[in-house]
Amino acid sequence: MSKADGLIIGTPVYLRQISGYLKMLIDRGCAWYHRSPLVGKPIFFVTSTQVSGSKQALAYLKDVSIQWGTIYTGAISRTMFNFENEVTPESISKFQFYMDESNKKHFKPSMKQIFEFYTQKVLAIHVLPLDLIFWTENGYLDQRYFYKCKINVFKRIIGYAYFRMLSHFIGKNKSQ
Ligand SMILES: Cc1cc2nc3c(=O)[nH]c(=O)nc-3n(C[C@H](O)[C@H](O)[C@H](O)COP(=O)(O)O)c2cc1C
Repeated sequence: MSKADGLIIGTPVYLRQISGYLKMLIDRGCAWYHRSPLVGKPIFFVTSTQVSGSKQALAYLKDVSIQWGTIYTGAISRTMFNFENEVTPESISKFQFYMDESNKKHFKPSMKQIFEFYTQKVLAIHVLPLDLIFWTENGYLDQRYFYKCKINVFKRIIGYAYFRMLSHFIGKNKSQ
């Protein structure tokens, strides 16, 4: 996964969630929530279910993709009612676009992605020494997001204010 240019991950839906096998893989890579080797890679999900649960499974997978620092580019969900729901050139066009490394500068991270980035940054600075080494080596500490991309002024201000507030709160608690 860390060597791939992009990731397409598929799972059947079991009891309205991803399969246990995929969950185990995600759990084994729990360090990737802090020190991700997948940053900036496009990611696309595929689920199959008889009827229900794709919404919950895909919501969870989207959240994982944000924690990994990947670029979420969409999903296809098959049920017994939409067998015609195929992967089309349109549905994977965003995925293909971000396979090209030079296009990452066009990515616009959501507010949630920026909050998650700053949360991990604060943990690296104040709490987790291993993360600090990783974040320093990768140059993330000086960035507004993992890499140069499009962040509008509003998101920059909110993101920075969140970072300062969280740093203050965690730094204060640590010194106590
Ligand atoms: C343990 C288990 C739990 C399942 N839970 C659901 C469910 O919550 N909702 C649903 O519509 N289908 C459910 N299914 C049907 C699967 O989603 C369907 O079999 C799957 O898309 C195809 O994958 P498979 O070939 O591995 O069975 C379940 C199947 C299994 C075996």
